[in-house]
This record gives sequence, C-alpha cells and structure tokens, in this order.
Amino acid sequence: MFYDSFEKNAFTDAIQRDLLLFSNLIQMAVASEIMAIDSLLSTAAAARDFARLRDFETGMHLDRMAQFSRLIAKNLQESHQLSDEYIEQLYLFAPLHDIGKIVIPDAILLKPGRLTSEERSVIQTHVEKGVQWVDKVLSEYSLNAISDADVLRNLIGCHHEFLDGSGYQNGFSGDDIPLEARIITVADIFDALTSQRPYKKPWSVEDAIDELRRMAGEGKLELPVLMRLNRVLIK
Ligand SMILES: [Fe+2]
Ligand SMILES: [Fe+2]
Repeated sequence: MFYDSFEKNAFTDAIQRDLLLFSNLIQMAVASEIMAIDSLLSTAAAARDFARLRDFETGMHLDRMAQFSRLIAKNLQESHQLSDEYIEQLYLFAPLHDIGKIVIPDAILLKPGRLTSEERSVIQTHVEKGVQWVDKVLSEYSLNAISDADVLRNLIGCHHEFLDGSGYQNGFSGDDIPLEARIITVADIFDALTSQRPYKKPWSVEDAIDELRRMAGEGKLELPVLMRLNRVLIK
C-alpha cells in the first residue's frame, strides 16, 4: 500500500499513525476475503473429488463442463461485460452443478433402463439437494457474504430451468434465470448429447448444435450463449 499527497509535508506524525492503523485494517479485510474464497474452493474441490467416486458423472464430463462454461463465458465477456473473476468462478464451480446427485439412491441414479415418473421426480430433487448442500457449506464457513456464493448457488439451483419456464426446480423463465445457469444448461445438454450413454451413441457436434438450436427456437435455451459455444467448437 502506498500513500502520496499533493500537499507538502502532509504526513505529520499523527497522520502517519492513523494511516498505519487504516493500513492494518485494510490488510486484515483483504486477507480474510482471500481466506474465505480459498476455503470455499478447497471445500468445492473435496466435494468434486467425492462426487467423482460415484458413477453418475464421469470425471471427463465434469472437466468438459468446466472448459465449455469458461469458453462460452469468455466469448460473452465483451457483449455481457463479464469480469475475469466471474469467468474463473464459472470454471471452478461448473463441475459442481450436479453435486446434489450424491444423495440420490444408486438404484435410481444408475438404473440402465427407462425411469418411471416417480423415479424421475426423485432424480429431479438433486437440484434442491444441491442447493441445500451449498447453503450448508457456505454457512458453516460463514461465506454467505462473498460474491462467489451467488454464482455457485445459482448454477446449482437453476441448471435445469428453461427460458420459457418449462424447466425445474422453480419453473423460472427469462431473466429470472441467472446467466451462469443459462451457460451451464447449454454446456450440460451439449455434453450429454455428444457423449456415449448405455442407451445411445454419441451425437456428432453438428447434430448436437442443431438440436440445441431447435431448443433455442422453442424458446428454451439462450441463442447467444449457444452461438458462442458453436463459434468455439467450429473454430
Ligand atoms: Fe442436473
Ligand atoms: Fe451434468
């Protein structure tokens, strides 16, 4: 920290004492913010590793989610005036979008065949469970006040919402769905389509983009977000 003054001899002994005190306070505030973010990130990393132990999403899917989300956000940076910090948060938190699946029983989560409608509603509770998990972690570490908390909570809580209100958990629509969630949703569907599943072959990038475009046409997904993904992939 550096102090300067246009006035000559501005730093009297008394002022120097005051400045020293302020400097210490500022240093403490900065250090505790850094520590808060550090502990959130290490908890997130531990949870992510733990989530990888279950089969519901492969580590590769989680890594790709991080990469796709960052690529989309980077391409939206100018038009949406996104900060570098926000893009980094997306990268770090994207792999946690399905963390709530930890509590869904294997018999349902890993069922190879078609799900009944009851089973589907059990799976859908992963959104609510994820938000509960994140709120618990944040309050245990007293991290609720940091701005990263909202990005994390939003992307877990709204990653199955569609712009036309036809998604879950809350049936939010349009601008009620935060940008971070709109980005995650596009990345997640794209990755699901282009990945191999027990019941389907991987789709080609072109077919997956066509399908996403169709969903955007129906008013479910955000076209600008999707176009950024398209631009990144075709490049
Ligand atoms: Fe999900
Ligand atoms: Fe996913």
